[in-house]
Amino acid sequence: MNTFFIVVLAVALVYFGTLFWFTDGQSNPRLNLNRLKNNKWHFGKDFLWGSATSSHQVEGYCTNNNWYKFESAVNEQGKPRILNGQKAGIASDHWNRYKEDIQLMKALSLNAYRFSLEWSKIEPRQGEFDEGALDHYEQVVDELLANGIEPMVTLHHFTDPLWFEEQGAFLQENSPEIFASFVERVVGRLGRKVRLWCTINEPSVYAMQGYLKAHFPPAVKDPRHVGIVFQNLLRAHTAAYQRIKKLEPQAQVGLVVALVLYDPPNDWNILDVALARSFNKGLNESHLTYLVDGIFNFSIPGAARVSFTNGIKDAFDIVGLNYYTRFFQSFGFYGGEFFKEVFKAPPEKLTDMRWEIYPEGLYRTLKMITRFTSKPIYITENGIADDSDTRRAGFIEDHLLVLNKAVADGMNVKGYFYWSLLDNFEWAFGFTKRFGLYHVDYTTQKRTLREGSKKYPEIIQKSREQ
Ligand code: FCB
Repeated sequence: MNTFFIVVLAVALVYFGTLFWFTDGQSNPRLNLNRLKNNKWHFGKDFLWGSATSSHQVEGYCTNNNWYKFESAVNEQGKPRILNGQKAGIASDHWNRYKEDIQLMKALSLNAYRFSLEWSKIEPRQGEFDEGALDHYEQVVDELLANGIEPMVTLHHFTDPLWFEEQGAFLQENSPEIFASFVERVVGRLGRKVRLWCTINEPSVYAMQGYLKAHFPPAVKDPRHVGIVFQNLLRAHTAAYQRIKKLEPQAQVGLVVALVLYDPPNDWNILDVALARSFNKGLNESHLTYLVDGIFNFSIPGAARVSFTNGIKDAFDIVGLNYYTRFFQSFGFYGGEFFKEVFKAPPEKLTDMRWEIYPEGLYRTLKMITRFTSKPIYITENGIADDSDTRRAGFIEDHLLVLNKAVADGMNVKGYFYWSLLDNFEWAFGFTKRFGLYHVDYTTQKRTLREGSKKYPEIIQKSREQ
C-alpha cells in the first residue's frame, strides 16, 4: 500500500513538474473585464494614440514589387493566389489622398500614425533612388507634423522590390546589407523629422507565410528556408538599427514582432503543452532573445531548426508589438506533420478572419516581452476585421481595458496603434476583410466612419481628461 502511494506521488510530481516546466510557470490570467471598467485610466498625457497602415495595402500603384507579381500568379491547381483573384491596384488610393486621410485621423483625436515606405517605389532598381518618391514621403511626414501627429515609419512591411526578389530576397546572405543601404538613403532624407522607426514588420510571419504556408510570395514550401529567412530578417534589423543610429543617435528604433500566443487545446495533455511551449519559444520568444542577447534559436517541431549567435546585444530602443489573437495546436501525427490547428472559440468570439477575440492575450504578450526587456513598448497593431461592425466597439474597449491594466501594473507601454485607419488590401484575402476605423467604398473611394469605431476617440478623450 505504502509503495503504491509513493509511486503515485512520484508519478504525480514528475507529471506536474514537467507540466509546470513546459508552461514556464506562466499561468493564463483570468482578467475580469467587467471589473476592469471601474479602473481609472492610466495612459499619461504623452501616450501615443494612433492608427496603422502599410504601403501596399493602402497606397495603390505598387507595380514594381513581389506582391504585384504574385497577384497575377496562380497556384499548383491553376487558381489565383489572392481570394477572388483580386489585385491591390489603386487600393485605398492613400498615395493621392493622404492629406484627406490625415484629417480623418485628426477627427478621431489621434496624435500618431504608423505607416510604411514602399521600398520598390524608392529604389526601383538596385542603387537607383527615385527622389520623387522620397519627396512624397517627406510631404506625408510634413503634413503629419503640421497637424500635430507623430509619424512612426516602418521600413519594411512584407513587400520587396522585384529586383530584390529576383536575387533571392532574404535568402541571400548579404540581404541585410542590401536592405541597410536603402535604409541609409531614407534616413538621410527623413531622419531629422522622424523620431520613431520600425525596421522590419513581423519577421516570423513573412518567413512562415512566404516559405512554408505559401500564402505570401515567393510561395515556397520548404521549412528549411523559413529559418534562414527569419534569421536574415533579424540580421537586417540589426544592420538597419546600426545605420540609423549612426546618422541619427536620438532616433528610437525597434523591430515589430507578431506575438501570436500558442495555447494547448487540452491543459492537462503534456504533449499539447510541450508543443505550445515549443511554438511560443520558436516563433515568439526567438525575436526577443535575438534582440536582447543576439542569440537566435528557431525551430518548427519535426521540420526545421536554426541556431545562430551574432553576439550583438541590445540593438534596439523600443519594441513594436502586433497582437491579434491566440492559436491552439494539438500534438499528433497528421499526414507528415506533428501538429494541427484546433478551433476552440465559439462563433460569437470570432472575427471575420476566424481569429478568436482574446483581449487577455494582450496582457500575456506584454508580460512575455517584459520578461526580456524593460525598454518602451508600442502596440504597433491591434484591430478587428468586422464587416458587420457589431463587434468593433467591444473589441476596442476590451483591449484598451486590458492595456490600461498592463500600464497600471507598471508595463512600459508608450503608445497604441489601431489596425487600421482604413479598409485595405488584406494580403491573400484581398479586399474581403474590413479592418478599417473608416469604411472605404472601393468604387468611389469614399471614407465613412464606422459606428463601432467611435469607441476609440471616446476612450482617448476620457483618458486625456484624467
Ligand atoms: C498583420 C500585418 C498587417 C495586417 C494585419 C491584419 O500581420 O502586419 O499588414 O495584414 O496583420
